[in-house]
Amino acid sequence: MSKHRLADAEMVEQAISGQESFSSGVVTGQREANRQAVEKLPAPQATRVIAVANQKGGVGKTTTVVNLAAAIALGGLRVLVIDADQQGNASSTLGFRNLSYDQASLYEVMTEGVPLREVMVENQRIPGLWVVPASMDMAGIELELNARTNFQQILSEAVNALLSSGEYFDYIFIDSPPSLGIMTVNSLVAAHEVLVPLQAEYLALEGLTQLTKTIDMLVIRLNPKLRFTAILPTMVTTNTLLGKGVLEEVRAYYGDIVMKTIIPRNVALAEAPSHEESILTYQPGSKGAKCYLDAAYELISREVKS
Ligand SMILES: Nc1ncnc2c1ncn2[C@@H]1O[C@H](COP(=O)(O)OP(=O)(O)OP(=O)(O)O)[C@@H](O)[C@H]1O
Ligand SMILES: [Mg+2]
Repeated sequence: MSKHRLADAEMVEQAISGQESFSSGVVTGQREANRQAVEKLPAPQATRVIAVANQKGGVGKTTTVVNLAAAIALGGLRVLVIDADQQGNASSTLGFRNLSYDQASLYEVMTEGVPLREVMVENQRIPGLWVVPASMDMAGIELELNARTNFQQILSEAVNALLSSGEYFDYIFIDSPPSLGIMTVNSLVAAHEVLVPLQAEYLALEGLTQLTKTIDMLVIRLNPKLRFTAILPTMVTTNTLLGKGVLEEVRAYYGDIVMKTIIPRNVALAEAPSHEESILTYQPGSKGAKCYLDAAYELISREVKS
């Protein structure tokens, strides 16, 4: 998919040059413009359920979920983010930091069988972007669910029930915690695809081996439809020899699974969560916004036709 993205040529120019000097009034105007500027995206043949996973902490899982989801929803598709991490970072970035006392979360879905459609809430800024928030209660979920039979399939059953209830989504992204525990396993069993954000740093490949072993085991035992869709290099600093070297090593080892798009280190990406926004609405002209939009296009073009 080649044609682009941010309609305003000047914004593209700024994105490429990395210039991010907006006064706040201008930013607001550009946010509005950007909402209309992402070109309409093609819907997939069927719902794509994508787990974003890497047991290593702080590699950009949540940033990737939030910004891919926002980009795709801005392109006119219906997107659901399931926050399967008790830290709740995806929930808070998408505006659900403090849940009202009567708002249920993924915890109630996992432990009491509350349907996802009763828990999901729509993002205020981006129509069509829905969130199933996490809650702190999920911290103890490992112990609570361990004794249950088929505890690895709880989320998968909830997602299937949602999709057969007449509620349609084009994309469902599941944000996983930094571990290979119960919630990550549930995410991988519920998903059709896995996308791994990989921070291009020394020893990055070591952690991937454990994750790919887990994926292989789950494919055999619990989820034969799971495909390893993509590795997305994150927080890349291509101006250092180390950064370049790691990227080359990852591409040599994993080949085409590694996305062509890379996400550079970009300060606006780190700032956006504190404003409870995706980068696409917070600073649409930033490098981070341009790269996540590119990543969304590339992900869409990687649809596996079954
Ligand atoms: N490309 C980037 N450039 C600069 N900062 C980034 C970038 N991507 C993510 N960050 C910041 O790095 C930190 C970790 O990112 P993020 O929370 O997405 O990682 P994570 O893998 O979800 O972490 P965890 O394992 O704790 O869930 C956050 O503060 C985030 O804002
Ligand atoms: Mg996270």
